[in-house]
Amino acid sequence: MRKNYAYSADFDLKTEKLLKDAKYLGQGNNGIVYELPHNRIIKIFLKEKICKAEGMTLKRTKKSKYFPKIYFLGELYIVREKVEGVRLDKYIKRNGLDKEISKKLYDLLKEFKKLGFVKLDTRCRDIYVTKDRKLMMIDPKGCYTRRVDFPRHLMKKLNSLKLLEVFLTHIEEIDEEKSKYWRSQLDKYFKKKNIEYEV
Ligand SMILES: Nc1ncnc2c1ncn2[C@@H]1O[C@H](COP(=O)(O)OP(=O)(O)O)[C@@H](O)[C@H]1O
Ligand SMILES: [Mg+2]
Repeated sequence: MRKNYAYSADFDLKTEKLLKDAKYLGQGNNGIVYELPHNRIIKIFLKEKICKAEGMTLKRTKKSKYFPKIYFLGELYIVREKVEGVRLDKYIKRNGLDKEISKKLYDLLKEFKKLGFVKLDTRCRDIYVTKDRKLMMIDPKGCYTRRVDFPRHLMKKLNSLKLLEVFLTHIEEIDEEKSKYWRSQLDKYFKKKNIEYEV
């Protein structure tokens, strides 16, 4: 269960007005999210520091097609573009993992590198698959602070969905060197954490 935090942000006038028509979308550990008119959402944070870090990240990813546009950065809230679609883990549970999606994940991770991220990883729940099968990120966390140079979380989740081997076989066909590196790094990590390979 999520804790029932008290959110208390001071809104600018324009946002306050928009909030009258807001619809609850979801909640995580750091914030609560409402849909606003004009295809926008507002994420209200508990901590200024996290809000600022996420705002800075979204400003740095502004030109990337994978990230929502940022419209306003407040002390405790961010107004940004709404992402439509289905969470990646839900999507592949329903549809399986084909090579096209694997390639899109590979391209997304390449984009992280291009954007100067030090975290070359993401959680499945932070990637949405849109109607036209494009990938979009919703919750960019620790991208410029947490150092990890292979998609550890992503592959761990694919393993629990029994799709890791499918994914790595696709990656091997796209970029053999990468697939070898990812396999060896994940292997070390799984051994350290006593995680079994699911088949
Ligand atoms: N840009 C967005 N478009 C649509 N829904 C979103 C968007 N951002 C967040 N959400 C919804 O709000 C929830 C919480 O947002 P998230 O950014 O993951 O918060 P936290 O940082 O607390 O984990 C998400 O799980 C999702 O359901
Ligand atoms: Mg989240």
